[in-house]
Amino acid sequence: MIQAEGLSKEFANGVQALQQLRLSIREGEMAALLGPSGAGKTTLLRLLNGALRPTSGQLAVLGHDISTLNGRDLRELRRRVAFIPQSFHVVPRLSTIHNVLMGRLGQLPTIPSLVNLIHPSKAELLRVFHALEAVDLVDKAEEPAEVLSGGQQQRVAIARALIQEPEIVLADEPVASVDIATATDVINMLLRLNSTQGMTVLVSLHQVHLALKHFPRIIGLSQGRLVYDGPPDELRTKDLYQQGEDEGDEKRTVFESLYPNHPSTTL
Ligand SMILES: Nc1ncnc2c1ncn2[C@@H]1O[C@H](COP(=O)(O)OP(=O)(O)OP(=O)(O)O)[C@@H](O)[C@H]1O
Ligand SMILES: [Mg+2]
Repeated sequence: MIQAEGLSKEFANGVQALQQLRLSIREGEMAALLGPSGAGKTTLLRLLNGALRPTSGQLAVLGHDISTLNGRDLRELRRRVAFIPQSFHVVPRLSTIHNVLMGRLGQLPTIPSLVNLIHPSKAELLRVFHALEAVDLVDKAEEPAEVLSGGQQQRVAIARALIQEPEIVLADEPVASVDIATATDVINMLLRLNSTQGMTVLVSLHQVHLALKHFPRIIGLSQGRLVYDGPPDELRTKDLYQQGEDEGDEKRTVFESLYPNHPSTTL
């Protein structure tokens, strides 16, 4: 599904957000992307969904070379690879249904997509209800988004991605601003999409404990580099040291480099 080799991204201001990444994700996998702020998580997810282009290296997503896709082919790829942004924006006064329908904007040409938003067809409404069912929000369909809780709004954002009928779901810190119970619910929902619908799911997270508890594969980024790729168990062990560290530097475990402020003793 995803194959990256020597993948690098440098922004116009000279920031090296990703460096020489090698990554392979198979169909139906579920992985958590961990790393401190600025590690390159959002950059990687945006590259994977074709919103950014690599500076160098190879990146194939669903069999397409991301750096050469344009126009309709790129739009079609972006439909198949849904991206749920870090700060999702529900429109407060619009109903849940209409917020979810907005996930179709950009896939249809402008006029039809606006008509679709105002007068959705039966088929379109059915898609919306399927998506709302998947995130347990059918009972809130008619409510304006502003009365939903933070976690429910988070789920609207997921439903908005689901009506694209994607094969890959990329969620950028979907549980950043909710309490632990809600965060667990949202993660379980993503796990369910993975296990029942076979979607490939990649989720960036700050909460290491959630990643270790729920995800079979952890991909760790630190300063734009891949520092860990494997099962959660090995990440817990204390003797994994970050590669390429300068002599004399205080040695840090990979775990510590992924999550500098976490008291690892609590794991
Ligand atoms: N459009 C941009 N132009 C210039 N630099 C950028 C741009 N987007 C990101 N960066 C820089 O690239 C690096 C990686 O950013 P990125 O947003 O991918 O990090 P992140 O791991 O998602 O962090 P966070 O956990 O805070 O969301 C950072 O140093 C950031 O400042
Ligand atoms: Mg980010």
